[in-house]
Amino acid sequence: MYSTKIVGAGHYVPENVVTNHDLEEMMDTSDAWIQERTGIVERRWVPRGSNDTPSVMGTKAARMAIEKAGLTPDDIDFIVFATLSPDYYFPGPGVQVQHQLGVKTIPALDVRNQCSGFVYGLSVADQFIKTGMYKNVLLIGSELHSLGLDKTPRGRGVSVIFGDGAGAVVLQRCEEEGKGVLTTHLHSQGEFAKELALLGPNTTHWVDEIIAEADPNDTSYYPYMNGNFVFKHAVTRFQEVIHEALQTTNMQASDIDLLIPHQANLRISQYIQQKMGLSNDQVFNNIQKYGNTTAASIPIALSEAMEGGKVNEGDLLCLAAFGSGFTWGSALIRM
Ligand code: ACO
Repeated sequence: MYSTKIVGAGHYVPENVVTNHDLEEMMDTSDAWIQERTGIVERRWVPRGSNDTPSVMGTKAARMAIEKAGLTPDDIDFIVFATLSPDYYFPGPGVQVQHQLGVKTIPALDVRNQCSGFVYGLSVADQFIKTGMYKNVLLIGSELHSLGLDKTPRGRGVSVIFGDGAGAVVLQRCEEEGKGVLTTHLHSQGEFAKELALLGPNTTHWVDEIIAEADPNDTSYYPYMNGNFVFKHAVTRFQEVIHEALQTTNMQASDIDLLIPHQANLRISQYIQQKMGLSNDQVFNNIQKYGNTTAASIPIALSEAMEGGKVNEGDLLCLAAFGSGFTWGSALIRM
């Protein structure tokens, strides 16, 4: 059976930097609160009127990943696009990337697993590559959160943590023994779907109703998060699912060369690092610069880690995520 190797990574973030101090002027918050609770210093927010939609940002990241892989867009056989903030309610942004790249009519699949979207997408792509169906799969995570956030004091518990951006990888069929994606593990618990969710618009609370009602107190079309509750589940599930991957492959935490956790909150990453006995060199964080970019956070971090020489041939890479759904997952990859 074949395995799946990461042969190129890319990322794109909008130029517009929004600092914690900028947020102080919009909502009743402070740089000290945000840094102490989340580690975030600044994030990128697409300015209103920009052409940077989730699919456009995804295509920019994809072009970089394809170039790093030494390929051209025509070499791609399959597109997998993970996001919670698609350009349109439907169709999903995967098909827009197919068009924007100007490639033949290859399939495009959209993954709706929020912060775990990239790990879910990786697992899906891995199955297609392992079985020999596709050779080069483009996996993208891209999010445009900022234009849909409640930027009043009412939304401060959610809005300060989210940022915009995109990351992408090219996954390729590999025939080298022991290389590539070694294992992936996925979970969900829909019981807690509403603990971190954007409930409107939906098929029973549709746009015409919202607009017609124009109810200023209707917050259903802003993301809601029961932060504390999510935090407690995140720290448990992250550890569980990483241990599951280590157990399956008979490895220890000390074997991990680099853990790239979904960048949800620096305190979550630090807690996992401490509980798993990992050193600073074994964990990659960039949430300080970008905030939580949901499905884009792991591929942006991976692209930066690879560019910065932190991921080398033969390294054991661990990816792990937890988020809305609840969904969570992990992957171990021998580079
Ligand atoms: N600025 C100032 N004060 C604030 C802010 C803010 N931005 N937000 C909340 N507060 C206040 C609250 O009003 C509250 O005040 P009170 O004690 O007077 O009532 C106090 O700060 C504490 O609020 P909490 O919500 O309990 O704050 P917490 O310490 O839990 O931090 C946070 C909030 C950062 C959101 C945290 O809960 C968290 O990171 N949760 C997990 C996020 C996560 O992992 N998400 C999953 C991925 S995202 C996805 O899947 C889409």
